[in-house]
Amino acid sequence: MLSFQNLLSVNELSRADVDVILKRATQFHETSHQISEVAKGKILASLFFEPSTRTRFSFEAAMYRLGGHVVTMESSLASSIQKGETLSDMGRIMSGYCDIVTMRHAIPYSIKEFAQHATVPVINAGDGPNQHPSQSLLDAYTIKFFQKKIDHLTIGFVGDLKFGRTVNSLMQLLSLFSGITFYCISHPTLRVSPDLVATLKNSGHTVIEMDNMNDLLPELDVVYMTRVQKERFVNEKEYLEVKDHFLLTPESLVGCKSTLSILHPLPRVNEISPALDAHPAAHFFDQAKFGLFVRMALISEMLKLEK
Ligand code: CP
Repeated sequence: MLSFQNLLSVNELSRADVDVILKRATQFHETSHQISEVAKGKILASLFFEPSTRTRFSFEAAMYRLGGHVVTMESSLASSIQKGETLSDMGRIMSGYCDIVTMRHAIPYSIKEFAQHATVPVINAGDGPNQHPSQSLLDAYTIKFFQKKIDHLTIGFVGDLKFGRTVNSLMQLLSLFSGITFYCISHPTLRVSPDLVATLKNSGHTVIEMDNMNDLLPELDVVYMTRVQKERFVNEKEYLEVKDHFLLTPESLVGCKSTLSILHPLPRVNEISPALDAHPAAHFFDQAKFGLFVRMALISEMLKLEK
């Protein structure tokens, strides 16, 4: 039984919630060839005001695999928000048509506004640079799957730690675990927020901020690469100054642990060379695939579907 109705932020998740969702995701992973009927008669509304490949299609595929149905909106121009309707009214209206909603929007806290008068569970599928909680759950699932644990790992977060909602949400989720060493590697203008650093330190973790990855990779259990979020920059010149700062290649991995996991929420632009795709440490395509099982688990638990 989860402790929350809506998943708008990682803040809603307790450690027990994370354990419940990861355990159920494991069950779906182990029986991934089976189509279930547990969500028969249930409808997921999939509302994407911003582009998505992984999040949208894995949520929709998850609902179909559970035996439910999906109604979908794939363009910000396709709803009556264009005519001036508020997100809050839209949430109230959509609650009459479906059993659960997943939504992505460019504006931070917009999904909170949508959920204000919604009477069905709402999942934040990414609100601007703010939060992407279902991604954090699938990232945690992937770390646990390959590393066999989450506590006491040494993890490097690389790239856009300012605008990257996946990296910020994941670090916040990992604060629920014990004794993690966080290396935060970014251009000085794309640092992780001081509030998040304080949260991690207050939870007993170690945080080290750096400008480059030189000599660091051999120390890491996990390296989490991220794309510089071009769409969040107002000034293109500022984007051009910080893009293409970090690129993993086969040469970068010399001396690394044999158990290293390379993760990336994807899409990648120029952070991981395709020459690494077949490397044993390359787990980013598995990570995207595991999103299906985690989202099946999330829908099942939030709708209290039978096991
Ligand atoms: N990781 C992620 O959120 O991918 P999409 O933008 O394709 O959904």
